Amino acid sequence: MTSTFDLTQLDRFAGTSTSIRRPREFTRFSYDDTHTLKPLSAESLSYYYPPVFGAPGLEEHRPDLSVGFKTFRQRDDSVDEHLDGLLDTLQAYEEALLVKVEGGEHEVANVRLKADVVTWRGGDAQNRKSEHRSKGGGELMLTTLQILTVAFDDFSDFEMNATCFQVRHDPFIEENQAYKAAQRRSQNSQQPRRGEVSQEMMQYWGYKFESISTLPTPWAETTRADIEGRETLIVSNNPQYCSMVRTGIGVTSLILAGEVDCVLGEKPERADQPIPWIELKTSAEPVNLSNHREAVRYERKLLRYWAQSFLLGVPKIMVGYRTPDGFLNRIVELETQRIPAQVKRGAHTWDGNLCINLTAAFLEFLTQTVVGNGVWRIRRWKNGGMIEVFKTEELVMEDILKQSFRTHRE
Ligand code: A3P
Ligand code: MG
Ligand code: MG
Repeated sequence: MTSTFDLTQLDRFAGTSTSIRRPREFTRFSYDDTHTLKPLSAESLSYYYPPVFGAPGLEEHRPDLSVGFKTFRQRDDSVDEHLDGLLDTLQAYEEALLVKVEGGEHEVANVRLKADVVTWRGGDAQNRKSEHRSKGGGELMLTTLQILTVAFDDFSDFEMNATCFQVRHDPFIEENQAYKAAQRRSQNSQQPRRGEVSQEMMQYWGYKFESISTLPTPWAETTRADIEGRETLIVSNNPQYCSMVRTGIGVTSLILAGEVDCVLGEKPERADQPIPWIELKTSAEPVNLSNHREAVRYERKLLRYWAQSFLLGVPKIMVGYRTPDGFLNRIVELETQRIPAQVKRGAHTWDGNLCINLTAAFLEFLTQTVVGNGVWRIRRWKNGGMIEVFKTEELVMEDILKQSFRTHRE
């Protein structure tokens, strides 16, 4: 039986937005330079420090993002990691809590975080369907992000898997890799035209921009040589810092994990303080916003930036505007929270409140649908007027939730 979530009558989601709980980081994990998972570790945390521009007027004052392309260390993302990094970390976090509590006065067994939905935030490396990529990267699962943008992204199509673990109704959601692989194959068949920059190069620009905008240590521990040395470092996309947050949209509580690029200053000492995260993006110079087509394209990009950062509580986005051949022109700072209002004043191609209300309604629908044993498929076709949710026999719960996590939670 297929349950459907209608996407045609969007008016029912209009109006002020439903309640949202501010995302709070409760733990973290890192991938190191060999892409080995380090649960609970902050070792790959980076610190923002703006890229250095030469003196204006000099020939070479703009950083060239293509430098070092030949030595790019690119991670192997052909393996389906399911929810593994997230689950290993959740497990390590819960086990550590247990130890702490045992050491104290009260022995409390089986500390388990509760949430209605557990998933990747998504939205980075893997999820840009409209762009041709030779390889994906980063987080492997499609997520709430796709839902957050679905009302205004007619071209997004996706398949996710969801399973409900045990009697507690926590749907765990992951991306359907087979579907993804097929999508990727069709994207890869588009070769760049002569004279066009390759997709690989454009992708490299994004990582090079990260490399010349961040430092591995806080400002106080940084030397001038560290800053100057960034230009010639070998760029690698293996190290990643992933934040795990608890949040809520409408009545649904969530545990989300996602990569964050860097922090401004330092992380606050108190865990309940918001973290001044920064999301880094590169983008071709805009764009004549009085031209409607260009404005629409620009706002679509803003929708993706906003959704990605909003879900983890990232307050700022630094956009590195570049020339068509990859020279950095300038940095523009966007405040995540203000993006929806900016769009409202512009071509008004999307509405942030509507996105949030739709997501809240969808999550409620999902938690009522994914109940009991089995695996459900969540599917949306390109231009599709609905999201379908139906049971699939292609997978069993054990494919999504690794053995060690199940044993831990049993
Ligand atoms: P840009 O965002 O500057 O294009 P993120 O911005 O999410 O931190 O991702 C960092 C970089 O990863 C991106 O930089 C881009 O180069 C690369 N990237 C993003 N989406 C990708 C995808 N679907 N496939 C491969 N690489 C991607
Ligand atoms: Mg990133
Ligand atoms: Mg980024």
